[in-house]
Amino acid sequence: MKTELLKPTQANLERAAQALRNGELVAFPTETVYGLGASALDDAAVQSVFVAKGRPLAHPLIVHLKEGSDISDWSRASGTALEMARQLAEAFWPGPLTLVLPRSAAVSELVTGAQPTVALRVPAHPVAQALLEQSDLPLVAPSANRYGRLSPTLAQHVTAQLDGRVRFVLDGGPCEIGLESTILDLSGPSPRVLRPGQLSAGRLAEVLGVPVGGRGAARVPRVPGSTASHYAPRAGTRLVSGVGLPQAAALSVGATAVLSFQATPAGFTGSWLTMPQEPVAYARELYSRLHELDRSAELILIEQPPETPAWEAVNDRLRRAAGERQRNSDQEGER
Ligand code: TXA
Ligand code: MG
Repeated sequence: MKTELLKPTQANLERAAQALRNGELVAFPTETVYGLGASALDDAAVQSVFVAKGRPLAHPLIVHLKEGSDISDWSRASGTALEMARQLAEAFWPGPLTLVLPRSAAVSELVTGAQPTVALRVPAHPVAQALLEQSDLPLVAPSANRYGRLSPTLAQHVTAQLDGRVRFVLDGGPCEIGLESTILDLSGPSPRVLRPGQLSAGRLAEVLGVPVGGRGAARVPRVPGSTASHYAPRAGTRLVSGVGLPQAAALSVGATAVLSFQATPAGFTGSWLTMPQEPVAYARELYSRLHELDRSAELILIEQPPETPAWEAVNDRLRRAAGERQRNSDQEGER
């Protein structure tokens, strides 16, 4: 299959929408990362998403909707869970929030990985919105990377990993947020963040008026056998404290790249990138920098950001990039 990179003109959006209606794959920008889209109503198309990514079938997909008012078409949530979903949809959709809810019987088991829940999100990016509108389809869209690799925040990151595996890539330029959406599980006894993102548990709790649990709460695995690293560069990746960084860099052998808050020390000959001091700007750049460094570095050293709530989503992805095992063995994979 030939992959075409398209500017999101009206004519090209129509071509992309037609391809989706034909069961083909279209990668598109969202405000978080690029997604690999397919019709959520077409099992053969959904299956080809797993094949294109090389992703195991047990890892469920997020259904992207044009509007939050469609929750009840997808979920049999009722009572408090439905009320909470509606409040959050009202406050944060379209936006970088994914809600996990009890699924309705109509949802394909391929989409949900045969789990009793479904993940829903309404993306804010105008190109994503236009594609949902033009195709008039709900779209499954995992991050548009090969399984276990870095998520794409530029159209070129998508073609680098999925060339020949996707019909069209809509080029919307760099993603505004740069990290995947916050995933909130509303299917259990109390709301719980499964994957931190720019939208913090604190802000969700403010809207809900109840506490929102983090990743520590003990729960059954959502996805079997998935504690290994991902969001991973090919190069060896290590998280290093700011104090230890100059020495670690000086002592490293081979092509070493560094992501740091500090300026390049005298005498360092590898690539040294100085990152923003502020988490939102840092997140926007992170994957792009890692994609760039991953092309030539054998080792990537990353300075540990502050371990504060504002950095939670960034630190989560850095731990994964460095291949650190999850603190809790019950966490699902997010590839
Ligand atoms: O920002 C995002 O969410 C991006 C953009 C493209 O929308 N999408 C994305 O999809 O990150 P993906 O497939 O790479 O990650 C989705 C995560 C996976 O870890 C998957 O296991 C989890 O969502 N997930 C999907 N359905 C679930 C469910 N029913 N219960 C629990 N986790 C679920
Ligand atoms: Mg992913």
